[in-house]
Amino acid sequence: MIEEEKIQKLRLFYQREKALVTSPFIDDDLKLNQDLFARVSRSLNMSFQDKIVLDIGCGSGMLASFFIDHKFYIGFDLNVRGSFKILRDNSHHYAQANALQLPIADNTVDVAVCMDSFEHFPDQLAATVEIRRVLKPGGFIFLSVPNYANIAGIVKFCCERFGSYEKDTWAPFDYWKAEELEHFMTPGRVRRLFGGAGFSTFTHIGFDREVVVGLIPWVWHPKTPRIFASAISKTVSLVAKPICKVWPASSLHTFWRIE
Ligand SMILES: C[S@@+](CC[C@H](N)C(=O)[O-])C[C@H]1O[C@@H](n2cnc3c(N)ncnc32)[C@H](O)[C@@H]1O
Repeated sequence: MIEEEKIQKLRLFYQREKALVTSPFIDDDLKLNQDLFARVSRSLNMSFQDKIVLDIGCGSGMLASFFIDHKFYIGFDLNVRGSFKILRDNSHHYAQANALQLPIADNTVDVAVCMDSFEHFPDQLAATVEIRRVLKPGGFIFLSVPNYANIAGIVKFCCERFGSYEKDTWAPFDYWKAEELEHFMTPGRVRRLFGGAGFSTFTHIGFDREVVVGLIPWVWHPKTPRIFASAISKTVSLVAKPICKVWPASSLHTFWRIE
């Protein structure tokens, strides 16, 4: 399939599957979980003061609410969404654009954000090269990606190899609904792809609340009784923090600072 066709299929998929336009940073009211984002930013030593921030695959643009008092925020997505109402002044912009052909000049942004979008890009190496092109020297990337270097990865492999899911489509989100494109993300793959584009400094952390899905992805299976899922989640939550500290890849998501 040629690249333009893949992009068109992705665009239509996310118009249809609204429940999949989410990330671990969305709270129950479909707004940004500001506390979580601030906590992760601190853990990864990320400061956004006076920075030009580019949010690639920004979905509804919810992250803009974090940058309301910051210098400059630009959100790009394949789909333009009506929910993006935060455009207050000339410092916040939102546009339809493909991550593989960013419509901005070289060396323009201080921070590139890919919050649960990078795993869907058809040509991921091309995307990293494009990010490198638009990032100023000294800039950094904040990446939030699903992570399959755990039991969820074994399930993904088996479901795609022996089950009813096509290659690169399994993910546990929205009760195991097939994605249009969900690459097999692991910490090694992140390092290989971004390293291939010339990035050399990588820091990452896991997400303690998602250790349970990384290790027991059946808690989100549609046929698992909710009462069991909730009991398992509560039990694992008692030990999730230390597990995540020593083994960040036990979690379903990893969060990265890349330079
Ligand atoms: C799982 S959603 C995440 C949205 C948002 N970042 C968030 O955290 O809520 C993935 C988003 O990536 C967008 N996307 C996928 N492929 C893209 C591409 N090649 N270029 C730009 N956006 C893309 C989709 O349209 C979708 O809005």
